[in-house]
Amino acid sequence: MNNTYVNKEKFIAENFEYHTNLPFSEDVSVLNTSVNIGVKKIQNRLTCQAMEGCDGTADGSPDILTKRRYERFAQGGAGIIWFEATAVLEEGRANPRQLYITENNLDDFKKQVEDIKETALKTNGYEPIVIMQATHSGRYSKPYGTPAPLIAYNNSIFEKENPISEDRIVTDEYLDRVGEALVNGAKLAEKAGFDGVDIKCCHRYLNSELLSAFNRDGRYGGSLENRTRLLRESVKGAIENCSKDFIVSSRLNVYDGFEYPYGFGVSKNGGLDFDVTEPDWLIKELYKYGVRILNLTMGNPYFNPHVNRPYAQGGYEAPEHPLVGVSRMLNGTAKLKELNPDMAIICSAVSYLGVVAPNVVAGYIKDNKFDFAGFGRTIFAYPDFANDILKNGGMDKNKICICCSKCTEIMRKPGGTPGCVIRDRDMYLPIYKELCGGNK
Ligand SMILES: Cc1cc2nc3c(=O)[nH]c(=O)nc-3n(C[C@H](O)[C@H](O)[C@H](O)COP(=O)(O)O)c2cc1C
Repeated sequence: MNNTYVNKEKFIAENFEYHTNLPFSEDVSVLNTSVNIGVKKIQNRLTCQAMEGCDGTADGSPDILTKRRYERFAQGGAGIIWFEATAVLEEGRANPRQLYITENNLDDFKKQVEDIKETALKTNGYEPIVIMQATHSGRYSKPYGTPAPLIAYNNSIFEKENPISEDRIVTDEYLDRVGEALVNGAKLAEKAGFDGVDIKCCHRYLNSELLSAFNRDGRYGGSLENRTRLLRESVKGAIENCSKDFIVSSRLNVYDGFEYPYGFGVSKNGGLDFDVTEPDWLIKELYKYGVRILNLTMGNPYFNPHVNRPYAQGGYEAPEHPLVGVSRMLNGTAKLKELNPDMAIICSAVSYLGVVAPNVVAGYIKDNKFDFAGFGRTIFAYPDFANDILKNGGMDKNKICICCSKCTEIMRKPGGTPGCVIRDRDMYLPIYKELCGGNK
């Protein structure tokens, strides 16, 4: 069985065995260097990735578990907190407890951002940059607890013999309204005190699905300009409607892992090879608009989680060693950074690396192969990972994420509020037992 790394030796051996070409740097001091994005100073190279807790109130405000999570992340010392998926339209919520920002609950979000900044300042002596992820869940919308998909197009990989009914395919006019709602979400995020907004375009939610809408007619399908229209116009709109110091970014899928014509960033000659041509064009366009930082990711957590979040144990046996998935993500990200050296880039999917994650990401960052390391599942298991890396000599093997997928299992259950069943067991083991029947 595969396990996350608790020592360097096994990693070095497997990196060699699977030809994964991941660097390893003993010196991780680069992680403790700052970077400026516009006027905003980011204290270090460690990022808490967006990690949804599905634990807001019915009206979409942060609730008790949400506040607990962000208090832990704020204490942890990361330079960036990428605040989880936050809906901008009710029908685009992924679950009835997904965060949802509106004029009516703006004060609750303001309080949440203030709490994060105050806690971090008190604990670490600096404030993280906090970016809100604005989302429309598209095919994964479930605002009232039952699936209510809104899709860009039907595709035979997902739908197989059962296409989703035509009236769930969103019209161009609806997509125009989604663009307006995303821009409005950016304005609300700025009012709430966030340092920036992410126009979410990943993991097959609506904006991300459009990237591969090769066979859709109209203004949002077919050509690359059309398929990227919703993202590009929302980003432009957010830049035009927010102050110049506000960061406008995107968490962007640069590779889906589905064959053409159903995947973005995938070779058009058949097969699943990564093709940088279209993602590179898109990154260059976003740079022209004024975007200076992007958070790159790959895959679909529902259909190919081994691409999106390489695991030790999951819903199916992965067709590749998890290190191969990590390598695709990190070396693919490095390739796009090479083509776009002036764009600051955050990588994803390093949790499987366990205690060697700091050494691997430092290897990339010191050679300018990306700028920030984004930790996802790790932050549920080990919210103070950044302080351990930066101040306490490295990651503790007894605190790392073991990539067991139990957080994802909870998330997939109706009403599930994910967290770490292993390392935060007093809080999350009872939830896991109740919803997933586990007895670990
Ligand atoms: C429970 C759970 C919730 C997540 N929520 C979000 C989210 O709100 N937005 C997002 O872009 N990605 C989300 N992700 C994906 C993570 O940010 C990350 O990309 C993924 O876990 C791979 O990184 P890792 O190997 O460090 O875990 C989520 C993942 C999990 C397991």
